[in-house]
Amino acid sequence: MTQLISRVDLADFAHICVCGPEVMMKAVLAVLDREGCAERGQFSLHRYMKCGVGVCGSCCTDPHGLRVCRDGPVFSGDVLLESEFGRYARDASGSRHRV
Ligand code: FES
Repeated sequence: MTQLISRVDLADFAHICVCGPEVMMKAVLAVLDREGCAERGQFSLHRYMKCGVGVCGSCCTDPHGLRVCRDGPVFSGDVLLESEFGRYARDASGSRHRV
C-alpha cells in the first residue's frame, strides 16, 4: 500500500498531499513519521457530516475536537499523529466504527 512512497526521497518535497482511504493515509502517515517529516504531510479527511457548518460535532476528531467541516478537511500529519486518525470515525448515530 505504501511501496511507492518508500521509493521517493521525501526531502525533495516541501508538502506531501495525501487523499484516499483512511487506512491507506494512516500507513502513509506512519512512513512520514518514521522519516521525521509528519508535519509536511497534508491529509484530506472524509468524515460523516450532518450540519457542515461546525455546529453538530459529528465530524470532530478526537481528542482535539477539530471539526473536519470547519477546521479541515485538510490536516497536517503532526496534528493527526495525536488523534484517532486511522483507528475509528463516527457514523450517523455518533457511534464509533473502524475506518
Ligand atoms: S458536520 Fe457538524 S460540526 Fe462538522
